[in-house]
Amino acid sequence: MTDSTKFFVQNQGHRFCVAPMADWDAKYAGRSTGLFGAEANEYLRQIVARSEFAASSALCLADGDGRNGRWLAARGLDVTAVDISEIAAANAAAFDRQAGLAVERVVADLANWAPPDGRVWDAVFLFYLQCDAPTRLRALKLASQALARNGWFVLEAFAKSQADNNMGPADPSLLYSLDEFGEALPEFEIVEALDGQIRLDEGPRHTGLAQVVRYAARKV
Ligand SMILES: C[S@@+](CC[C@H](N)C(=O)[O-])C[C@H]1O[C@@H](n2cnc3c(N)ncnc32)[C@H](O)[C@@H]1O
Repeated sequence: MTDSTKFFVQNQGHRFCVAPMADWDAKYAGRSTGLFGAEANEYLRQIVARSEFAASSALCLADGDGRNGRWLAARGLDVTAVDISEIAAANAAAFDRQAGLAVERVVADLANWAPPDGRVWDAVFLFYLQCDAPTRLRALKLASQALARNGWFVLEAFAKSQADNNMGPADPSLLYSLDEFGEALPEFEIVEALDGQIRLDEGPRHTGLAQVVRYAARKV
């Protein structure tokens, strides 16, 4: 990539170099409804409904056009959301406004984004970030650093066994296995760690049976 194809995003005093994400931008372009439906992810809602779940702030990594961050904001959480796609973030901000909600939306690459020094959240959500292993690992580490003590980390994503299946990336190196979490998040207490088949019903791109991992853990 040459310098002329890079662009920079200024946010909270940080200057980020962001690689153009023509792929994701193209998927979100021109949409007046959410790419993954209007509802928050079902697993996210299940975890938030648990009796022991408590959070007043949330960081949503790779929040796309914002269904999850917006749902949390509607429940009174202070939400910060990060996504690499400018178009996704612009759509998200428009949907937030339509819903009368405020979410802090940051356009940045999780390969190099870091929150302002000392800033922590009560919960970090990471849903369907499909990317190379170093960025995936960095996102997990970032989640760990960005969480307050006892904070919740919650993830759902396609499992490696979903590769070559009916939806999601065909390349298993972009997908998840539960082993990665123990290595990346050693100081966490597992609430749930599941690898199995579920029926997704999340807008046009995530519909049907899929192999996923679901992971919820608390920072001790
Ligand atoms: C499958 S979508 C899921 C969006 C959202 N989490 C949801 O469930 O509705 C994957 C998202 O990850 C974002 N993404 C991909 N690579 C990224 C990166 N390196 N940094 C930040 N966001 C990234 C894409 O722009 C896209 O919005």
